[in-house]
Amino acid sequence: MSDIQKAAKIIQDGGLVAFPTETVYGLGADALNPYAVAAIFEAKNRPTFDPLIVHVADPFQAEMLLAHPFPEKALKLIEQFWPGPMTLVLPKSKLVPDIVTSSLPNVAIRVPNHPLALDLIHESGRPIAAPSANSFGAVSPTTAEHVRQSLGDKVKMILDGGPCEVGVESTIISFVEKEPVVLRLGGLPLEAIELIIGKVAVSTGSKDKPMAPGQLLQHYAPRTPLRLIQGSVAPNAKMGWLGLNNPPKGFGAVEILSAEGSLIEAAAHLFAAMRRLDEKDLEMIMAQPVPDEGLGRAINDRLYRASVKS
Ligand code: TXA
Ligand code: MG
Repeated sequence: MSDIQKAAKIIQDGGLVAFPTETVYGLGADALNPYAVAAIFEAKNRPTFDPLIVHVADPFQAEMLLAHPFPEKALKLIEQFWPGPMTLVLPKSKLVPDIVTSSLPNVAIRVPNHPLALDLIHESGRPIAAPSANSFGAVSPTTAEHVRQSLGDKVKMILDGGPCEVGVESTIISFVEKEPVVLRLGGLPLEAIELIIGKVAVSTGSKDKPMAPGQLLQHYAPRTPLRLIQGSVAPNAKMGWLGLNNPPKGFGAVEILSAEGSLIEAAAHLFAAMRRLDEKDLEMIMAQPVPDEGLGRAINDRLYRASVKS
């Protein structure tokens, strides 16, 4: 039996498999089996009010999980960006168990752009519910080794597809209201979306607004306190630096996200860099915000959330 066949059998039997996607690694279970999905919440220690993304092989498989056909603007985006780092939220059909959506009437769906993820969905014949494969609130895994470190004893199998190419989670767009709204900035840049369907509203949750599911402010956080740099810093050996540029001298550890200043490369390196700094026994990680454009928006969003004290 190939690894994919073994993994598919585990999914069909109601077990958990961690698998790579182009964004981050996911912790997958049969989306149509509520007991299997419950095991995800248990493994992640995740509050059950936070709903899951369902991964499908193509738009046809997606439509079976939906109450209505895709709206026109959603179809335009799908044509351009699936498979890819884009999740759509739409009214669900009765097929989708309530535990997947935390009893919301809507389901989040995407077609991942990774051969192993697509093979697993095809081979198992099931849509696969999967959050990022980390303990709740922690930094998302971008390598199989990251998954092993945080959930190794809780999953039957980890499919290793090497480091994730995109490195930040998918962009989430809700089509529940009349006009689309971006709920999470992610691997598909806002500019790319707006090129296809025009201006869209962004509502990613804030300190003052009531929070929608998944917009928990403190998220994606290393254990070491992380601060966003505003103005200048006085470095010392107990401080780590995370940024695009070279820091002033004196930091105890340094992670440069992209020497060429590429935001694409920076996104791909972000979570692994946070983890490496977290292992260094530092008192503080100082993070330099990046230009707020393209993938920079998703990077700044993750840095900001990592900096908020719980
Ligand atoms: O790139 C990704 O999206 C990765 C890979 C594995 O696909 N998955 C991921 O899943 O980041 P997770 O569970 O860590 O984040 C999914 C987010 C959550 O914040 C959740 O609240 C939101 O999607 N979400 C899921 N279903 C929703 C729904 N019905 N309405 C609103 N938000 C929803
Ligand atoms: Mg997550």
